[in-house]
Parts: sequence; structure tokens; C-alpha cells
Amino acid sequence: MKISSLTRIAIYFSVVGCSLGSGRRLGSAEKLIEPTCNTATKTLAEIVAVTDDGKTAVFTDSAMFALGFVNITNPSAPVGLKKTPAGYLSVVNMEDPANPFEILAARKDLGGQPDSIFVSPDKKYAAVVIENRREEDGQLPLSPPGFILIYDISADDPSTWTLKWNVPLTGLPGLRFDTDPEPEYASFNANNILVVSLQENNAIVLINATDGKVIQSYHAGAVNLKNAWIGTTHFATANEGDYDGGSRGFTIFNTDGNVVYESNMSAEHLVTKFGHYDDARSTKKGAEFESVVYASDIQMLFVLSERSSVIMVYDVAVPSAPKFHQVLPTCVAPEGGAYNKITQTLVVACEVDDRSKKIRSSIAIYKYGSKSPLYPSIQSALQPSGLPIPWSALSGLSAKKSVKNTLYSIEDSAYKSSRIFTIDVSSTPAIITNALVIKDTNDVFKQFPPTSDFIATELANMINADKTVNLDSEGISAHEGGFWIVSEGGGDAGASLTSLNLLFKVNLMGVIEEVVSLPSAVNAMQKSFGFEGVTQEGDFLIVAFQRAWGSEDNPRLGLYNVVTKIWKFVYYPLDAPETQNVGSGSWVGLSDIVSVGGGKVLVVERDNQGGPDAAIKRIYLVSLGKLNAVVDLSTVTKQLVRDVLPNVSTAIAGLALEKIEGIAYLDGNIWINNDNDGLKDNSGESRLINLGKIPN
Ligand SMILES: *[C@@H]1O[C@H](CO)[C@@H](O)[C@H](O)[C@H]1NC(C)=O
Ligand SMILES: *[C@@H]1O[C@H](CO)[C@@H](O)[C@H](O)[C@H]1NC(C)=O
Ligand SMILES: *[C@@H]1O[C@H](CO)[C@@H](O)[C@H](O)[C@H]1NC(C)=O
Ligand SMILES: *[C@@H]1O[C@H](CO)[C@@H](O)[C@H](O)[C@H]1NC(C)=O
Repeated sequence: MKISSLTRIAIYFSVVGCSLGSGRRLGSAEKLIEPTCNTATKTLAEIVAVTDDGKTAVFTDSAMFALGFVNITNPSAPVGLKKTPAGYLSVVNMEDPANPFEILAARKDLGGQPDSIFVSPDKKYAAVVIENRREEDGQLPLSPPGFILIYDISADDPSTWTLKWNVPLTGLPGLRFDTDPEPEYASFNANNILVVSLQENNAIVLINATDGKVIQSYHAGAVNLKNAWIGTTHFATANEGDYDGGSRGFTIFNTDGNVVYESNMSAEHLVTKFGHYDDARSTKKGAEFESVVYASDIQMLFVLSERSSVIMVYDVAVPSAPKFHQVLPTCVAPEGGAYNKITQTLVVACEVDDRSKKIRSSIAIYKYGSKSPLYPSIQSALQPSGLPIPWSALSGLSAKKSVKNTLYSIEDSAYKSSRIFTIDVSSTPAIITNALVIKDTNDVFKQFPPTSDFIATELANMINADKTVNLDSEGISAHEGGFWIVSEGGGDAGASLTSLNLLFKVNLMGVIEEVVSLPSAVNAMQKSFGFEGVTQEGDFLIVAFQRAWGSEDNPRLGLYNVVTKIWKFVYYPLDAPETQNVGSGSWVGLSDIVSVGGGKVLVVERDNQGGPDAAIKRIYLVSLGKLNAVVDLSTVTKQLVRDVLPNVSTAIAGLALEKIEGIAYLDGNIWINNDNDGLKDNSGESRLINLGKIPN
């Protein structure tokens, strides 16, 4: 069924290390980035606006104290125009063709700290919010109090613009500190009524710009409110939530100050269902809904989650009964957005930028059209409690011949009490239908180790009081009676070792039946990049090591015979890194592995780079021949089957995903997935992709 939805069509990497005039900058696959532009210099796209003609996006870059201009005439191919320094209150003339972005009026004395500026839809008024917050961490109330300046900007010549109203906000009802209003954010409706959020006061004020009078003020019940009008009778606020676990979502008010809709926790539950919930934050601000944008032509409200890096889209044709429409993936920490009616596109700016963490500040563009949503490709089902199965940080992937349309995955060390997920891929998006908790019910793991490689306290850290276990599960192989799982070891052999690389045999109930470790001589060479994948062919388990151990040149594949309990190893020749990311040494390693029968395995080989620095995301085929005839410590040859970089960058119009961590072979089709690191330094974007048959 085709429905109208938004699809991300471009991502503009707002690098400032070079002039912005030189072309479109995408993920990485098109290699359009000039090497000299891809530097570690920080840029910080935060607030974004679109010009009335829909042709230019303008963003603030608070790292460079500049405004950036991007040509979005063709929204699927944004082109950087220029950057100009910004400061004070200035007016930029966009229409002078000879010098389109000249700053005409450089500075006006505003009598306080301006926080934000808003222009009325009829272009008659500009409201400047003066927050006057002198100390970020000071206890309220603080003086002097903030206020609102309303300028009459109806004349063509900015030098004739005048201050019409200076609207004080002290002494109003509904404020916690009525001597210190702390206005933060505002928005005009078509009747020139300004709604102002007083963040620290949890209050809202309505001001009539025509006569400069306060119409209403009232307590709004949540902190950090950024607002948007929905028509002239209702407005929405995004609620970042407070430390008491209060509302974290959005609220819709009418102009009388009555709440007509309150999302409560429902928006966060949706974030959980899509694998974007940052568990580490749950006691604090959760998803941090930061701002709202309204598209009047399609009556959609976009609620931006700063921490979960998603946009929740709601149909608000009936403001008192919003209907969840879809979720959109973004770059890391979407801060501001603007809707472009001319091209029916949403433009969103993400502010976090850190090349060493593979996070780039960017502008993402989404187009509305009659298409089925392309995101998510995987989500979770509801539990009997009515809440979705929480998931994130998916690692290895597997399938078994006897079960159609089903994949199995695990979560890595981002979570304690490790689980195995069952994924139904018979429909799109795929659905996580079950989470099986792995348990050491019979103390099989507790009675390990037989060797001195792994001391008791370290083992104890991996087993919880309720006998659930904390594995760093990186690979899974499903078989009729259960699963084999590899847990990656921690640290290097010797003093820094925290855990061994282990193979776990787990039954269909999640109970550990057997634990296997490497031979001591191999453990003695352990490096912190260990087991990443496991697959089974006949009596053999084949495990992939991520990187070389000891002083060896290449990583090993381990072949473990489950009957004879004997290990053999072969070396896998890795590709060399192709990009050098400043700040974090670039390397290439193996991820998951899957048997396709006849002694043949597919392996995922990838670099540790994402976004513009990503180069190697590949699937290779290795033919091991008859497994019991494999010569110990020989080196295998490999054959490229797929370069999947386009599938995880340009095809999704996003910054290239770094961690392709899972591969499965289901009914002749190759499936891959990425690990979103449980949102740690990551946008949380999770993809499960069917790549189709292996090419001949
Ligand atoms: C913006 O891009 C369009 C094509 O998409 C082009 O025709 C136009 O000249 C560009 N404008 C500027 C100011 O570069
Ligand atoms: C705003 O002020 C104008 C001028 O006083 C008045 O005509 C209009 O009704 C006011 N609007 C509201 C909603 O109070
Ligand atoms: C939010 O909670 C209030 C109070 O319990 C309830 O009336 C309202 O229906 C809830 N909203 C949603 C969207 O469930
Ligand atoms: C993966 O990328 C290749 C190369 O661009 C393309 O031909 C193929 O259709 C893509 N597959 C999927 C499932 O997107």
C-alpha cells in the first residue's frame, strides 16, 4: 500500500574547513567530498530557516559564529553557497543578485542578551527574545529580568525599521519567579499573536504584537518548551522532560491555555519500539524532545528528539487527537528544523560534530510524497504489558533452514542481561517478536574456567544474581536445538584482560549448555578485538576474529569441531585502510560470518569509519573446501561479493553507517544489519537490509 510519507533525500555535511562554494557533500559513497574539505574542524549547524522562495536554507553555526547558506533549489542535491560571520542583530539581504548575502544593518543595541528572533508570517513584525540569563547555573531568580522587543519591519529599507514595543514580562500570573521571566523561544501565528516560552518558569505567555499587550500567561507544566503554532487556535510545545520523570514528549494547547493533547510517555515508547531509546539516559531526560515544526499544508507536526536522533511525525489535522504518522532518522542531535512549503521538504540541522567519534554536524532534507516510508526497516512488537520490546545495539545475525522468514540477532555489551532476538522478516518493517534472556540456570558458566586465563572475579562480573549473564555477544548461529553465540573478550592478554573470547551453546529456552574457550596458547595472544561472528557447517563452528592478535599480521578464522572439541585456525588477509581519520587510528577488521554451504563462508569486512570517512564496507566469500581437510595456520584467499557502502550511505541518503555487524543467509538471500551502539556517540539509525542473492 502506498501512503504519503516523508523520505530523507539528502544529507548536507556542513563542513567549514573550506569554502562552502564547492559542491554537494554526501555520505561517502559518491566520493564528492574534496579531501581538503573533510577536516576535523568543528562546525555546528544548530538553527535552520528556509527563505520564502524555498531556494535557500540558512543555518547558524555557533562554533564559527557564522551563518551558512545552502542552495536547496533542488532539495535532493543541496549545494553550499557561502558562510558569513554573524553577530548582534543583523539583516541579510538575500535578493541583491550582485552580492546576495550582504549584511546591511550590522548592529543595534538591544539592552540585553538576545536569545532568539522570530518574524511574523506577514513580515510586519520581528520579535527579539532577550533572555538575560547572566549565569547558566545560577539559582533563580536572577536580575535583570528578560523581555521581548517587537520591531516594526514593514518598510523595505531596514535602516528605517523601528522598535514598536518593549514588552516586560515581570509580575505575570503563572510564573514560578515572576521577577525573572527568562523568555527563551517564541512563534507568531497568522494573527500576529506571539507565543513565548519561559523555559525556567515552565510558563507560556501570549503577546499581541499589534498593541504590544500580554493576552495570557499560564503555567505549562514542563521544562524547556520550544513551540510552534498549529493554525491560529492551537500551538504545540516539545517537552524535554524534567528530572522527576515528568512529561517527555509534546503538548498541544489552545489559546485559552488549556491542554487539548498531552503525549505523556507515548512518544518515548515509540522511540523504544524503533530502537532509538538511549537506555543510559532513562533516569534523566530520556529522548529529550527538543523542538517542534509544523507544516500547515500537510497538517503534520514534526517533533525532534535531540538525544534519540529521530523525528516523530504526527498528523495533527485534529489538534486534540494527533495521529502518529512515521519516524524519520536524522544526524546526531537534531536541534532545529524548518519546513519548506514550496518543495514540501523538511530541513533539519544537527549540531554535534566530532570527526574522531565519526559524528558530523549536518543538514538533513526530507521530501513529502506518495511513497511508503523507508524507515524503519526494523521495529519491535509490543509485550503483554503493552510496552514495546526494548532493543538497540543489534550485533550478529543468523537464520536457520527450518524456519522461514525468521532471523535471529543479539545485543552487544551496551546492555546487561544479554538477550537473543527473534525477527519476523515476512513484512516490512521487520518485527522483533521475541527477546529471549540468556541464563546460566545450571551453573555451566559459573563452573568455568578450567584454566587460569580468566580469574574468578572477572567471571563473576559476567553472571548476575538472577543467573542472567552479561555477554559481549557479537555473533550468533541458530540451529535446530538452539544457538551458538560468541562473546567478545575484553582487554589484551595479561594485566588488562577483563574477559576471554568465549563460545556459548544455548538451548531454545536461553539456558547455557556449554562454554568453549580458545586454546591457552591462543588466549595468551589476546587483543581487545576478538570474536565478532560465528557460523556452523556440519560439525564445525567457524568463528571470525576482528583483528590480528599478538604479533600476527592478519586475523584468524577459528574452526572448532564440536565433536572432537579440537580447534584449527586459518589466517584471513584483510584489506588495508583507505582513509585516515584524524584522532582515531583507522583500521579494518572482520565482523560477522555466515556459512553458505560446501565449505564456503561470507564475511563482513569493514573499516572503523562512518560518514564521509567510511570507505570499506564489503562482503567477501572465502572457500575453505572440505572443513576437516583445512590446513592449520594456512592463509585463505577471498573474493569480493558485494561492496555494500552504497547500500548504507547514498541509498539511504544518510551519512555512511559505520558498524555493519551482522550477516545472515536466509532462503538464498543475504541479509545485513548495523549496530547503532545503543545511541552512544551514534545517531541510533538501525538498518536491516535484504541484499538479495549472491551474484554468480
Ligand atoms: C541553485 O541551484 C539551482 C539548480 O538547482 C541553480 O539553477 C541556481 O543557479 C543555484 N543558485 C545559486 C545562487 O547558486
Ligand atoms: C490585538 O490588538 C489589536 C489592536 O488593539 C486588536 O484589534 C486585536 O483584537 C487584538 N487581538 C487579540 C487576539 O487580542
Ligand atoms: C496522558 O495522560 C492523561 C492523564 O492521565 C490522559 O488523560 C491522556 O489521555 C493521556 N494522553 C495520551 C495520549 O494517552
Ligand atoms: C545495494 O547497492 C547496490 C549498488 O548501488 C544496488 O545495485 C542494490 O540494488 C542495493 N541493494 C539494496 C537492497 O538496496
